[in-house]
Amino acid sequence: MDDVHADVRTRYEKLTEPYMDCTFKFEVVEYQGAKKAKKEQIRIIDSFKYLGLRGKIRLSNPAQVFTVLQSYSIEADLCPRSEPDYCWFGRQVGLSARSHGIVDRYEIAKRPYFGTTTFESELSLVTCNLALVKEGQLVYDPFVGTGSFALAAGHFGGYTFGSDIDFLALKGGRPGQKDIKRLKDNFKHYGTQTKFGDVLCMDFTNSALRKDLIVDTIVCDPPYGIREGLRVCGTTNLESAKLTENKLIDGEKAFLRREYVQPKKPCTLDFMLDDLLRFSAERLPVGGRLCFWMPAADDEDIPRLIPQHEKLELIYVLEQSFYRWSRRLLVYVKRDGSYTGKTVTKEERAHENNFRERYFNRFI
Ligand SMILES: C[S@@+](CC[C@H](N)C(=O)[O-])C[C@H]1O[C@@H](n2cnc3c(N)ncnc32)[C@H](O)[C@@H]1O
Repeated sequence: MDDVHADVRTRYEKLTEPYMDCTFKFEVVEYQGAKKAKKEQIRIIDSFKYLGLRGKIRLSNPAQVFTVLQSYSIEADLCPRSEPDYCWFGRQVGLSARSHGIVDRYEIAKRPYFGTTTFESELSLVTCNLALVKEGQLVYDPFVGTGSFALAAGHFGGYTFGSDIDFLALKGGRPGQKDIKRLKDNFKHYGTQTKFGDVLCMDFTNSALRKDLIVDTIVCDPPYGIREGLRVCGTTNLESAKLTENKLIDGEKAFLRREYVQPKKPCTLDFMLDDLLRFSAERLPVGGRLCFWMPAADDEDIPRLIPQHEKLELIYVLEQSFYRWSRRLLVYVKRDGSYTGKTVTKEERAHENNFRERYFNRFI
């Protein structure tokens, strides 16, 4: 706090001048720290007396709100440190949608349709916010599943569509099952149905999208292979593939019939991520963003696991920690032809992101 006061004292006079006679209140907000006792809050607030504000203090609906923000880091025993790492002092100029209940509104349990892969509502909104999804943009989630990101993108006004290899996730249930709900119902529930394009069943690594289709934004969490399959179309059994290729039903090649279900084979997270970057580099307009979540075991050399593409600038790497593993939100921007970043493909990365194997072996 001493540094904050030293800084505020050098420049507060000009900054507070327009607000000297307004009604006001002070707030003390902690990030990760325990809520402060009233006495301690008052001590912090009183330490700003030198501002000399002349207006009346009003706790409800004041004209101005001044806030002291303190951010604490968490110790190994999972308790916050006793002293904050960072402090800020500021005047409130506006509140985010969070203050208007958006996180509560999009809570997963309140949606008609969700599943085991549904991504947290708050972080889906954060992801779309960082992707700068805007009214009228075309937003694509290539691993759409139950559609958390699509729904969040729709909230910000994006026209969304998605694809997934899992037919049942898109259909919301097995054919013939009663009272099936699906992603479309979630959009209806939130009154954003005009923002829902559609979903298609497709292996992302064998994309059926038109080659010249440009999408403004790509947001997703690619499959880690934990709660869902990490698969692509194809088979490792070449003999059975040969048989399938030649199989006829009613004189028609079996694999050309509508009801044919492609065999799937496992693939790696690294392979999928390289494909995602290549696709994004081709399909995003200059300035368009790709945002996705990448998991890693905490003992890995994480910076060296992050994929890169020469046409995409990596601008943010934001971490969410769990026990022994973490995931990172990676935000890339497509740059124009004059930009040449580095390319780091799976062959060039230090070692494999074999998160799935490490997870099931408890990161030993
Ligand atoms: C982590 S989940 C994404 C969940 C989604 N964000 C949601 O809210 O439900 C990954 C998804 O990728 C899909 N997937 C796996 N392999 C795929 C592939 N080759 N092509 C397209 N989707 C694939 C899985 O079926 C799964 O739904």
